[in-house]
Amino acid sequence: MSDSAAIDASSHSAVLRRSFRKSFSPAVRGEGVYLWDARGQQYLDFSGSAAVNFIGHGVAEIAAAMASQAKQLEFVHSSQFTTPVAEEYAAELLEFAGKNFEGGCVYFTCGGSESIETALKLSRQYQVEIGQTKRHQVISRGQSYHGSTLGALSVSGNKRRREIHLPMIREFAHVGSPYCYRCAFDCTDGCRNCGQEYAAELERAIEAANEEVSAFIVEPVSGATLGAVVPPPGYLQSVAEICRRYGVLLIADEVMTGMGRTGRNFAVERSDIAPDILVTAKGLSSGYAPLGAVLVSKKVARAIAEGSGAFLHGFTYNSHPISLAAGRAVLRFLREQKLVQAADSESRGSTAATLRSALEGLRDAKAVGDVRGIGLLWGMEFVADKATKRPFDPELNFVGRVAQAAVNRGLLVYPMQGCVDGVSGDHLLIAPPAVITADQIDWAAKQLRGAIEEAATI
Ligand SMILES: Cc1ncc(COP(=O)(O)O)c(C=O)c1O
Repeated sequence: MSDSAAIDASSHSAVLRRSFRKSFSPAVRGEGVYLWDARGQQYLDFSGSAAVNFIGHGVAEIAAAMASQAKQLEFVHSSQFTTPVAEEYAAELLEFAGKNFEGGCVYFTCGGSESIETALKLSRQYQVEIGQTKRHQVISRGQSYHGSTLGALSVSGNKRRREIHLPMIREFAHVGSPYCYRCAFDCTDGCRNCGQEYAAELERAIEAANEEVSAFIVEPVSGATLGAVVPPPGYLQSVAEICRRYGVLLIADEVMTGMGRTGRNFAVERSDIAPDILVTAKGLSSGYAPLGAVLVSKKVARAIAEGSGAFLHGFTYNSHPISLAAGRAVLRFLREQKLVQAADSESRGSTAATLRSALEGLRDAKAVGDVRGIGLLWGMEFVADKATKRPFDPELNFVGRVAQAAVNRGLLVYPMQGCVDGVSGDHLLIAPPAVITADQIDWAAKQLRGAIEEAATI
């Protein structure tokens, strides 16, 4: 389709889009940190779409690896065959995940939600295999997002995304998430105390569930729903210890934080915890193909291998060879280009350190209440009153206005609402590709300041 035909088609769309009200530009090209639409407008992708792209757009090696796989073998069903690309890539990913996953295995899917469904079923089957047949509940956190399928939504706390589906959802306990900007507990001691209070909440929920809990699922850094909230020191270690003590599996949802985004291969490395199951997607293929992965520890894999011997679960397109070829080439590229190191915001002179100070520099802008995050995953929360932290009226859609003003300046960010209580609270997610340069960061921060100021004048 020509560019002008794409523009015409966009106003009378046959696609069921995310909104019938918003107008969507037809995107036609990407390179590095930039995207272009059919009108020739250039955008700097300051949020990696939705924290998806980590290696930059338009990397020729990835397209070549996918084309080569497609020419060789496009698809086989995983009930009939394995493939060389699946075997080799799974081994490379386990190695990337480190010693905690030695002797484990990987289940490949087409994205985050499918991977979460897989992890939920895996935790249930593990408990059945070891004779804990009562265990089926999965505890999750109030302000969390784990995906859009019904199982994933049942363990998500994101109020807006769940609300109309509640009658179709099986509910288990949700516990609080540490959120030090608006903490329910005392944060005057560097947040040690509040982390333990939140962990104790998990322990009480497990006890109340009468030995029926199979797993606890947690984002090691809260992604979309809270806006890049890094947990207080000691919190993740405490929840890991509680899970171990009660025979509850720990599922780390690293759909957003995995594959280098936080400056470590996986964010759990920052707290030195060992999840039983780790879910990743987004940066795994950097968006070049639909791909998710569930990393399964040896303990869980062994229980099934030595028990019933079969994982009772499957999608037609799990382990799709072309997606795996993309993911494998992405892993090779990010290692060669040292992009995990670039994403380490605590390393002086790194790309992420430059991003961090540019965003910190926006704290004085009107309406910026908090700037938080780690690596190349940052959140910015907006408030109507900085002193009292009073949020904007959600009807104003303040963050939507900031995002639109940014788009008008050629800058893409990821706006969300609901961080305060599920409905009010406006925040942006900023998660650029790791190939962004210091000049591009500087330009983006200036545009973002302009967009925030413009939104605040309305
Ligand atoms: C932490 C987390 N888990 C799961 C998902 C669902 O992934 P997907 O949209 O690929 O299904 C997301 C998506 O934003 C996410 O951020």
